[in-house]
Amino acid sequence: APDIPLANVKTHLTQFQSIANTNGGNRAHGRPGYLASVNYLRSQLDAVGYTTTVQSFTYAGATGYNLLAEWPAGDPDAVVLTGAHLDSVTSGPGINDNGSGSAAILEVALAVPRSGFTPDKRLRFAWWGAEELGLRGSRHYVNSLSGAERDRIQQYLNFDMVGSPNAGYFVYDGDDSDGVGAGPGPEGSAEIEQTIQAYYTSIGVTTQGTDFDGRSDYGPFIAVGIPAGGTFTGAEGIKSSAQAALWGGTAGQAFDSCYHRSCDTTANVNDTALDRNTDAIAYTVWELAQTSPPPG
Ligand code: PHE
Ligand code: ZN
Ligand code: ZN
Ligand code: ZN
Ligand code: CA
Repeated sequence: APDIPLANVKTHLTQFQSIANTNGGNRAHGRPGYLASVNYLRSQLDAVGYTTTVQSFTYAGATGYNLLAEWPAGDPDAVVLTGAHLDSVTSGPGINDNGSGSAAILEVALAVPRSGFTPDKRLRFAWWGAEELGLRGSRHYVNSLSGAERDRIQQYLNFDMVGSPNAGYFVYDGDDSDGVGAGPGPEGSAEIEQTIQAYYTSIGVTTQGTDFDGRSDYGPFIAVGIPAGGTFTGAEGIKSSAQAALWGGTAGQAFDSCYHRSCDTTANVNDTALDRNTDAIAYTVWELAQTSPPPG
């Protein structure tokens, strides 16, 4: 998989910030900064050959939008779907939450044609609307799928907050290897977790598991039995001294002290965490998109 240039990801964050600045300070559901964010992504995906569609839905009296982009190669019956929510809260521009995940998966999508990669499976990318109001866009999408369309989605990868300033390195616990929480249940994907883990091992970074607690857009997917996974660098939770010893940063402070606040700006991003997570996404998409070679 290619090493994704951090500078490209940061360019997208700068664009999200200026979209918020010129649209009342946010990119929230039903506000003009949301649709401007959709249009920014769509034009770049169209320019390199993606097939893009905008799916609209209504929530709380406003129209919301999901942006879907499919790379037109690979087995259409074996889809690897990668998603991030594109909406912010109304209180700020939402650069770490979730400009970071949105920019990271955009740059991974753009790297597919740039690198000449020919995936065996079908790559689809999604930017969800109205996550902040209760996973509205991702739930609308899952509900809109026919049974056959659902069955074609083999895996769902979710990225929500991947550049937290006081970062942790969390991987959704698909196989309950951390023994924490209720266990993976039917939702866990050991394959996804182990693939992400292999990347972090290769760069010498220790990760911790985080349970599927229903707080992001993987929820509607695991509810219908589509295996999910992904990474997360922490929100309002407090970094322990053991975690600070492992990852650096400041013990006793939130992973993101600007979570859901007006200070979630381009200054609220940890470049190292954003770079590592973006490269981890590329590695994972590349690995999962290839059918395993036959044994022997
Ligand atoms: N989904 C939460 C938000 O957007 C953030 C979050 C992601 C919290 C993953 C926990 C786990 O505000
Ligand atoms: Zn990199
Ligand atoms: Zn949020
Ligand atoms: Zn979020
Ligand atoms: Ca667990």
